[in-house]
Amino acid sequence: MLAVHKAVFPVAGIDTRFLPATKASPKEMLPVIDKPLIQYAVEEAIDAGITELIFITGRGKRVIEDHFDESYEVERVLRARGLQSLAELVHGITPSNVSCIYVRQAEPLGLGHAVLCAQKLIGEEPFAVVLADDLLEGQPPVLEQMVHIFSHYDSSVIAVEEFESEGACSHGVIGGRHWDERVISVSSIVEKPAPQDAPSAFGVAGRYVLMPAVFEHLRGVRPDAHGEIQLTPAIHSMLETEQVLAYEFIGKRYDCGTKLGYLQATVDFALRHNEVHDTFDAWLRQRMGGAAGASGTAH
Ligand code: G1P
Repeated sequence: MLAVHKAVFPVAGIDTRFLPATKASPKEMLPVIDKPLIQYAVEEAIDAGITELIFITGRGKRVIEDHFDESYEVERVLRARGLQSLAELVHGITPSNVSCIYVRQAEPLGLGHAVLCAQKLIGEEPFAVVLADDLLEGQPPVLEQMVHIFSHYDSSVIAVEEFESEGACSHGVIGGRHWDERVISVSSIVEKPAPQDAPSAFGVAGRYVLMPAVFEHLRGVRPDAHGEIQLTPAIHSMLETEQVLAYEFIGKRYDCGTKLGYLQATVDFALRHNEVHDTFDAWLRQRMGGAAGASGTAH
């Protein structure tokens, strides 16, 4: 049975949807309440047994390295003030058995190109790809669910969820046949098709467990209309030689690459956050009951 120890986090992309917030800071560092998106993604990977985190970074992303590094100054100040539990929280962001590796992607040439940048570090092992702007909640965590499916079938696994018809053009979309209640044998995969061309209503969420064979297929992918090398066509090409499964994960996806998804995540997480859930819930109820409709526009 093959184990999965390594995960690739492509974080080099330039964000346009959260400007100006992301002009000088990475979108992956946007917090949902008090934790950056990238940390949610890393915690999910660690819960799934991943011990080697490979970040594909680019210009302006160094703060991600700082976030997962020791911060002696912050810890020293917290301990001096008697804030032990906060100091532990900061210290424990990267557990001691986990290592972080950073690879620079000189130009943001697409998700497939980012994954290809990790080839030498991955070698001949299966590995996960985790896109931090998809915040996935599940019990067990979604990547852990996927690693179980991967180990059971010894095949690459892609996380999917059913979307409304207009969702096709913002996802990779798979075609295939259900094998099991939540497991689909993939026969095709298309990147962001027009709704009428979508092979099914199952869109790809940002989690993959892939066999290393994908690298050879990535090498054959031609740049798309935007000059980017996508991961989706490499997976499609891999279907010629091996089985790929799609997995309808148990849990909820927040598309934090969009303002709406980010707001939904913020509200849902706030309603469960141990410091603010009561007061936020009370405020929200009052707000909804008392003052329906916005009274102004924020610019
Ligand atoms: C990427 C993938 C797409 C997938 C999506 C999930 O697109 O290319 O197939 O459905 O992530 O979030 P992106 O959102 O980076 O444009």
